[in-house]
Amino acid sequence: MENALVDSAILDKVKGWRAYVEAKLGFRNHWYPILQSSDVAEGKTTTATLCGERLIFTRIDGAVHCLRDRCLHRGVRFSHKPECHTKGSLTCWYHGYTYRWSDGKLTDVIAAPNTRIVDGVRGVRTFAAQEAQGLVFVFMGDRTGDIPPLAHDVPPNFLDADMHVMSKLRIVKSNWRHGVENGFDATHIYIHRESRLIQENNLLLPLGFAPSAEKPYRVIDGDQGPVGVVEEYGPHVIPAFEGKIEGQTVLRVPSDMTGKNIVPSTISMWLPCALKVDPWPDPRTTQFEWYVPIDETNHLYVQTLGSRVGSDEDKRAFEREFNKRWSFYAFDEFNGPDIWAREAAEEGYASDHHWVDEALFEADENIIAFRKLISKRNRGVQKPNHLRE
Ligand code: FES
Ligand SMILES: [Fe+2]
Repeated sequence: MENALVDSAILDKVKGWRAYVEAKLGFRNHWYPILQSSDVAEGKTTTATLCGERLIFTRIDGAVHCLRDRCLHRGVRFSHKPECHTKGSLTCWYHGYTYRWSDGKLTDVIAAPNTRIVDGVRGVRTFAAQEAQGLVFVFMGDRTGDIPPLAHDVPPNFLDADMHVMSKLRIVKSNWRHGVENGFDATHIYIHRESRLIQENNLLLPLGFAPSAEKPYRVIDGDQGPVGVVEEYGPHVIPAFEGKIEGQTVLRVPSDMTGKNIVPSTISMWLPCALKVDPWPDPRTTQFEWYVPIDETNHLYVQTLGSRVGSDEDKRAFEREFNKRWSFYAFDEFNGPDIWAREAAEEGYASDHHWVDEALFEADENIIAFRKLISKRNRGVQKPNHLRE
């Protein structure tokens, strides 16, 4: 049968991770971070696109509300000229259809008082929104039945009460899956070999790792918490500090571990699209990052750095350290090559055929494990709007 999302001849060749190949717009019925809390001001509106769906946000008495940015009447975007004549309502600029932010109900049409259309049951679609660690998370999916807790869709420890998190958001011109696969790729550290983060912050990073006979990852697949794949860097991982071609050394990076910070010990990828690198880039910090689907060719790169704090003074100290050092060295300088690698992969995978033509090797097994896990445990493939209506 013809598949609407990907050519069925391609899907027939994929073993165990078809849903992942289909999920160009990501997976439905999951929580995603999409804005910083500071982006949503009381009484003002702002917009974002998530999994191909245009959204409009506001804050009312401190709580964030999220509606689909599309009027039921003629399909125009509210955000072209947002009108909020009362605290709890959003009016479409075109003919005055007016909706409640809290549940999306159509309550009035300003240009046609007493119209019978407001008696209908339809409303504009609402999405659950929740704030955590300075970010706004949206549940991209149906609000019928129980919504899974946010804690099931973020990496372990991200929500811990003593974890203080700083963040930065930017758009990357690649499908979200190239973000996932770049972040969780053990041997892509090759592109970081000239990083100033490593050279100027007392860190050590090899060129790559020699393949190990041991399976280097564990799958966490329970019902009571986050689901993901954890790769542990232990004695079975053999770092390579020299690069050779036909026996001749052509590259060398520093290998003297004396006095160096050796990080990280684990790298893990969690549904729906979140990486945890622990510790990184400092023995006292953990990087959590998301590759949030915007549309088929763009994702929101949500970079966050967390540190355990015991007091407000600890928080301020970490914020100073972040602004002085890690915002530039870790998020901009070190992750810069990651961004262009993903954009280059977008070109490589421009045709869906590359999902079956790719020549992966042993070090990519953790990535295949994640493709299989998310294909099994996702809560639905997000389809384009014209197939979802
Ligand atoms: S298009 Fe929105 S009120 Fe007519
Ligand atoms: Fe990287």
